[in-house]
Amino acid sequence: MVHNSMIVVISTFLGLFLLRKYREFKWGYFKNMNSLKGKTYIVTGANSGIGKETARELVKRGACVIMACRNMSLAQIAIDDIRKTVLTGELIAKRLDLASLDSIRTFSSSVIRDFPQINVLINNAGVYVNSKDAVTTRDGFELHFGVNHLGHFLLTNLLLGKLSESQPSRVVTVSSLLMQSGQIDFENLNCEKETVNSLSNMRSNQKYCNSKLANFLFTRELSRRTAESDITALAVCPGFAYTNLFRDSSRKWYQYILFSPIIYFYMRSANQGAQTVVMCAVSDEVGKEHSGQIYRDCKQFHPKLKFTTNPAIEAKLWDVSAEMVGLLLK
Ligand SMILES: NC(=O)c1ccc[n+]([C@@H]2O[C@H](COP(=O)([O-])OP(=O)(O)OC[C@H]3O[C@@H](n4cnc5c(N)ncnc54)[C@H](OP(=O)(O)O)[C@@H]3O)[C@@H](O)[C@H]2O)c1
Ligand SMILES: *[C@@H]1O[C@H](CO)[C@@H](O)[C@H](O)[C@H]1NC(C)=O
Repeated sequence: MVHNSMIVVISTFLGLFLLRKYREFKWGYFKNMNSLKGKTYIVTGANSGIGKETARELVKRGACVIMACRNMSLAQIAIDDIRKTVLTGELIAKRLDLASLDSIRTFSSSVIRDFPQINVLINNAGVYVNSKDAVTTRDGFELHFGVNHLGHFLLTNLLLGKLSESQPSRVVTVSSLLMQSGQIDFENLNCEKETVNSLSNMRSNQKYCNSKLANFLFTRELSRRTAESDITALAVCPGFAYTNLFRDSSRKWYQYILFSPIIYFYMRSANQGAQTVVMCAVSDEVGKEHSGQIYRDCKQFHPKLKFTTNPAIEAKLWDVSAEMVGLLLK
């Protein structure tokens, strides 16, 4: 009897373990270790989670990585941690607060001045705030739209000249599967029209979803605008990964137990989450002909959108964003 139940327990655990390994296999792993020596990458939000693991994977291959972070002491802690195991390449921390248009402009000018070329810009940083209260950037934009979309929109535009001088170059923007629940309402892009009432009706993460959809539409329009040059624009769904992103969402202990099967089968490590980002940034198998596409699990992904994407909407989002960040006004 005891013997039989031992076998059941052991085979259950073995089965679960193999299932997890199978899931990990399906997520994909970017194995190519070709040298990236002499190439310069910018990773926004590189002090934590997927951005930090992306930086780690790039320096492992000998790259020079500019870690664009809002907090220099957190950036240094991340550098020290990566340097415990990886000694190749170069890690350079530079201050960038995507919630401030001034900071984005200062960062861009210093990068343009100090670096002869920028081969890949990785728009990774992101915020996810659960609060139903309106939270805004320094310039008064709704926080998710402002940081996740508008901040990266301005950054990319300011660096486009440099990326163009560094051809072939790439812009990789980290979106999310949650973009599939996103909406683009031109009457209310910045969520200004919200009254207390409409706010409480809104799913707490609707604004996050909207900003992640904007990331994808931005990538598609960028691919159109760079069609004549050797700049490739790609978007990525990294997958549900264990990072600091949900630090704002406090959960009860029993929720952790309820969610544990989901976590076990769906949650990647931050490094597993970074694999598709790294692939899009460096792989020779992804090229100009893939510009405007989105990747997940180290392969092309076809999102199911509630929203019908069309070039006119993508172009309009671009123009409206340019006006919001003062790109046309100067
Ligand atoms: N984790 C997931 O399951 C998941 C799933 C789908 C998509 N994503 C996307 O993956 C990307 C990376 O997120 P993560 O999961 O790695 O989360 P994370 O660990 O919280 O990292 C986010 C990074 O963004 C930075 N950041 C936030 N606001 C910023 C600002 N105003 N200026 C500059 N940097 C700022 C953070 O800096 P601080 O450390 O200073 O806060 C941090 O370095 C995000 O775009 C997210 O939307 C994540
Ligand atoms: C940077 O992060 C550290 C550690 O979390 C914190 O103590 C410090 O106040 C932060 N600095 C800024 C400028 O936000």
